[in-house]
Amino acid sequence: MHARRGVPEAVTRATVSALGGVMSTHRQIFGRAGVGLIPLWSPPLRFRGTDFEIGRHAFTRAQLGIGDGVSGHVLMMHIPPTGRLDAQASEESVAQATRLFERCYPEEPVAAFVCHSWLLDPDLADYLSADSNIIRFQRRFDLLPQLPMKDPSEGDREMMRLGLHLSVPDDGPLTEDDLDRVPQETSLQRAFVSHLRAGEHWQLRTGVLRKPS
Ligand SMILES: CC(C)(COP(=O)(O)OP(=O)(O)OC[C@H]1O[C@@H](n2cnc3c(N)ncnc32)[C@H](O)[C@@H]1OP(=O)(O)O)[C@@H](O)C(=O)NCCC(=O)NCCS
Repeated sequence: MHARRGVPEAVTRATVSALGGVMSTHRQIFGRAGVGLIPLWSPPLRFRGTDFEIGRHAFTRAQLGIGDGVSGHVLMMHIPPTGRLDAQASEESVAQATRLFERCYPEEPVAAFVCHSWLLDPDLADYLSADSNIIRFQRRFDLLPQLPMKDPSEGDREMMRLGLHLSVPDDGPLTEDDLDRVPQETSLQRAFVSHLRAGEHWQLRTGVLRKPS
């Protein structure tokens, strides 16, 4: 399917082999091998030609439809746990994705990139240095307004599990015992705990990044 669309073989290989990163994240979080995180790799999307690993980021082809004929195409942008979030590598990945989708999916003109992540919580700027990769990444996005969350602890659990690679309860707020398990070696780990101990929550936020011209 990729070959028919002219997707470079290197992108196909990266898209399939990203499973290795998911398996090693499982080992980091739970201390053993397991298949519990495979949904993060999204087999149905990968094998249907919907999810692609292109350089630093993964992208999901998505369609917007908001009634009255208003519609368009966007790429959902993901940050796989493959090392640091170098700004140049990130920008190159977006530029490469822009070119690849223009060439391989011309009938789906991409209007923008959309990211939904703990990485876009603006409160992180109160704790991390302005030139950290996370804050530089945030500055490239226009944030959509935050909607009330049904479960105020969802962002806390998501950041602890996906961001810090620590195990979390399936639901409910994090406990003092959970916070005690977070090492305090990096500014992100310290930020995570201080914010929660101050009675705040971490939020999953959605940001929109314009397509590079
Ligand atoms: C996103 C990610 C690549 C950012 O890493 P980075 O490039 O090192 O980010 P920064 O330069 O902004 O790091 C700022 C600080 O946070 C620390 N940090 C970043 N990611 C960390 C992590 N996963 N665990 C612990 N500390 C982390 C850095 O070491 C640095 O600490 P310091 O100031 O004490 O030196 C990294 O957090 C990661 O791999 N996360 C897992 C994947 C993920 O969460 N994806 C999003 C899913 S929605």
